[in-house]
Amino acid sequence: GVCEMSNPGPAFPRTVADNPSDPHDREVMLKEVLEGLRRHQKELSSKYLYDAVGSALFEDITRLSEYYPTRTERALLERWMPEWVELERPAALVELGAGSAEKSRVVLDEMERLDAGNLYVPVDVSGDFLHETAGRLREEYDSLIVRPAVADITEPLTLPGKLPEPAWFALLGSTIGNFDTPQATRLLCRIVGQMRAGDRFLMGVDLRPGPNKSQERLEAAYDDAAGVTAEFNLNVLTVLNRELGSDFDPQGFQHEAPYVPEASRVEMHLRATSPQNVHFHGADEDIVFVTGETIRTEISCKYNRTAIDGIFSDAGLTVERWVQDDDGLFALILARRA
Ligand code: SAH
Ligand code: AVI
Repeated sequence: GVCEMSNPGPAFPRTVADNPSDPHDREVMLKEVLEGLRRHQKELSSKYLYDAVGSALFEDITRLSEYYPTRTERALLERWMPEWVELERPAALVELGAGSAEKSRVVLDEMERLDAGNLYVPVDVSGDFLHETAGRLREEYDSLIVRPAVADITEPLTLPGKLPEPAWFALLGSTIGNFDTPQATRLLCRIVGQMRAGDRFLMGVDLRPGPNKSQERLEAAYDDAAGVTAEFNLNVLTVLNRELGSDFDPQGFQHEAPYVPEASRVEMHLRATSPQNVHFHGADEDIVFVTGETIRTEISCKYNRTAIDGIFSDAGLTVERWVQDDDGLFALILARRA
């Protein structure tokens, strides 16, 4: 099946420390970044958007009036968690790309209220931000055990110890959309590889334009009037300059985020407004931009039921519950192993 390639199995035990994609490993990062920037369509992994500044800017994005996903997903969690948590009684919550875990608190509150379980494992590539989140949660929840794991979720997962059953794995905020279909399938395969029969997968996804969701509204969510998303996007150049000793001039680039209907995704780009020559410390060739050339810094795929069923069936998951808001902006899904 599609999943076989995704699980190297016990012969390749991996920890964060020997993970070659460790964000602190400059050599590996340089190689990956240069490879992306040497392509015809220059591109960067969206994980580089999330240094401490980028993580804080994303938090600001979640509070923008244009950025409907966060508040729509929160309303869905508030509506459905009392019922779903009571029914399934998760003993642990493992969350990939946890960020500030703001919405995760809705799940944790219900787990606490129903005395279902008290283990929370937030996983995120943004290390300092993750540890701050963990610290805040420990203060807020007396009996919660928080075991943060700094890891790249595109790499094989290593979780701290054996999880109590049943466990819930969560991927909220439509973070799945930041991966293309093969990457998303691989990521879900790895999650399924850790799931036991009673475990569940909770995911939030942003939906495609529809009768009550215009393309304009979708695009405004990625190009807000206050320019916070532009700042979030441009920050990646500062990250590269700091981590790799490059000399990008952020002033020479401009934020763009069109919805591309043929690909059902928003693409976030940085467009060079004049010719640019960028040198990376230790690289023999500069990266050259002609005026108008772009770097694609993120994709944000949008879904419908058919698209999710396709990815789930490849990854070995079955939808148990699918709920969405009245306007069809966003969906919340509970799934089990097929
Ligand atoms: N779940 C939160 C945050 C979403 S933002 C919410 O719904 O609001 C995406 C999060 O995923 C960020 O915290 C970012 O640091 C993390 N992230 C992005 N790429 C990642 C990767 N490759 N591995 C691990 N975490 C990643
Ligand atoms: C985290 N991720 C799902 C966000 C999104 O909507 O794709 C990141 C983001 N990029 C621009 N705005 C928000």
